[in-house]
Amino acid sequence: MGYESRCKAELASHHPELKFAFGRPGLLTFKVADDSPLRQELVLKSTFARTFGYSMTTIQGSLPVDLIETHCKTHGANLVHYWSRSDQDRQLNEAGEASTPNLPRLNIPGIRLNKNAKSGETVIDVIEIDHEHWLIGYHQAAQTFQRWRAGKPMITCQEPVVSRAYNKTAEALQWSRLPIRAGDICVEIGAAPGGSAQALLQRGCSVLAIDPADMDERLFGYPRLQHIKKRGKDVPKKSFAGARWLFADLNVAPKLTLDTVEEIVTNDAVHFRGMVLTLKSMSESGDAKQDSSLFPDEIAGIVDRVRGWGMRFVKTRQLAYNRNEICLLALKQKALLRARARK
Ligand SMILES: C[S@@+](CC[C@H](N)C(=O)[O-])C[C@H]1O[C@@H](n2cnc3c(N)ncnc32)[C@H](O)[C@@H]1O
Repeated sequence: MGYESRCKAELASHHPELKFAFGRPGLLTFKVADDSPLRQELVLKSTFARTFGYSMTTIQGSLPVDLIETHCKTHGANLVHYWSRSDQDRQLNEAGEASTPNLPRLNIPGIRLNKNAKSGETVIDVIEIDHEHWLIGYHQAAQTFQRWRAGKPMITCQEPVVSRAYNKTAEALQWSRLPIRAGDICVEIGAAPGGSAQALLQRGCSVLAIDPADMDERLFGYPRLQHIKKRGKDVPKKSFAGARWLFADLNVAPKLTLDTVEEIVTNDAVHFRGMVLTLKSMSESGDAKQDSSLFPDEIAGIVDRVRGWGMRFVKTRQLAYNRNEICLLALKQKALLRARARK
């Protein structure tokens, strides 16, 4: 939410056949031209659309349970994703039910509610626009994030998380399906206090955490954590020997994050298979009012720059657990993802 203007700008650029219809914070709707291939298959090229589907109807008044049931039957669907555009950031509870305290109960016999969809499954979407208006639509769970209610995965942790970066890294790993295995060495630049490192350590990875700030003491219970208390560019390149995956989460403008990462990954002694970068929406001066970052042209330039480092597969997404930032995934070879899918 809050990134509607960026979302509209990127859709206008990648899918000019979409004509904006109406929008609210957290919800944008468009008309699709009659001859557009998007009418047959809705695959959007978008960093900011957290999830998307076809709208069937908007309703004024109370929640039309009978109508939802009818749409389930018509579409052969037995799963409903039910959320409010204004509180889609709420966490799901342990059982995977949405904590939707402001929404009326929705209980339709034989219909699963707010569970993850199976791959390819048809899902009926019921979205509260405001207390009196509802949008009913559907989507096919073709991409990983379309399996999650409101495009947001349920993330749980058995121990207290040391920072919210735990959630965003856990989500990035689920979304990207990176083939990171126990024992792999991951480097994170901008690692303190360590939520992201915690998510990787829990997977059995070794983590080289680089940050001039202190790591949360609780993480040193993990023997596979090493902290180098320096800025990224001051770390000797031999420290990266054997490391497979690079993470970066610096509280600086995207260009400065990329400068730091470029200086490392373009060194001949360094061989990462892939990386996950958090790119903050902020101007180089740090002035929020001047912030025009992460609009489509800048993202396109960032993707080209990262490809220039020998990363053939590059994708961007504003994760559900990202705030004023996006996630960039880059891999040397896309085949790495296919190899994981085969397993
Ligand atoms: C958003 S916090 C990182 C959160 C962290 N990833 C976590 O999991 O908790 C940003 C961090 O970037 C660090 N930082 C900023 N510039 C840096 C640089 N050039 N090299 C290493 N760390 C840097 C800051 O010290 C700060 O701790």
